[in-house]
Amino acid sequence: MRLDVVTIFPEYLEPLNVSLVGKARARGRLDVHVHDLREWTYDRHNTVDDTPYGGGPGMVMKTEPWGDALDTLLADGYETGHTSPALVVPTPSGRPFTQELAVELSERPWLVFTPARYEGIDRRVVDEYATRMPVYEVSIGDYVLAGGEAAVLVVTEAVARLLPGVLGNAESHRDDSFAPGAMANLLEGPVYTKPPEWRGRDIPDVLLSGHHGRIARWRRDEALRRTTANRPDLIERCDPAAFDKKDREMLSILGWEPEPDGRFWRRVKAVEE
Ligand code: ADE
Repeated sequence: MRLDVVTIFPEYLEPLNVSLVGKARARGRLDVHVHDLREWTYDRHNTVDDTPYGGGPGMVMKTEPWGDALDTLLADGYETGHTSPALVVPTPSGRPFTQELAVELSERPWLVFTPARYEGIDRRVVDEYATRMPVYEVSIGDYVLAGGEAAVLVVTEAVARLLPGVLGNAESHRDDSFAPGAMANLLEGPVYTKPPEWRGRDIPDVLLSGHHGRIARWRRDEALRRTTANRPDLIERCDPAAFDKKDREMLSILGWEPEPDGRFWRRVKAVEE
């Protein structure tokens, strides 16, 4: 997968050299190109922003540097045999970045990120490139960052670990919180490793039992416990058909019951967590 990032803070993207993303690059799974937007400014002050039409606070990033930067890197990519770029525009006004979207992006051969500073980029830039390629406007959460670079790091890490040959064990995706399948919409429960006793704290006996069925059940109960506590909205969105008899018993213990129409679950009583 090819990744291009255009930014006024190329050094902000240094973490792309470390850890999992760094390894993916070293293994040739990721071909990362970070570009300094100011290379496409032609005035003495390397201006990338200007005042907003219509007034208001803050500054808006100008069309020309973005257009010239994107044209240049796209031409370079096409010349070197890359195809089907998609634009990823980090913005608090975008669609929520989810595991599902990470999977979708991981299946594309070429992602071009445009992290903005200030009040964002002149809208015409997105409108222009949307005529040539898919555009994903994504938000990594309901808060406002000073710029989109941290969002690029977040999206890149979530995508890179899904690329074939990047995570050692392909099974490690399977039980991810938010992974599709039986655990869809449930958060992963707690995990333990050696030693079996630490500061007087033991690990749950079931994990030492060697009984795969019971361990799987325990993990699912813990996932239900954690999800009801931390993300009740996820349980409310679940299809009740995804819950087996044991799930229902656990949910009932946790204070959740089916709606009269059987479609949704809701908390009917608070329980001590
Ligand atoms: N830029 C500023 N805030 C952001 C957010 N929450 N997600 C993505 N990009 C952003």
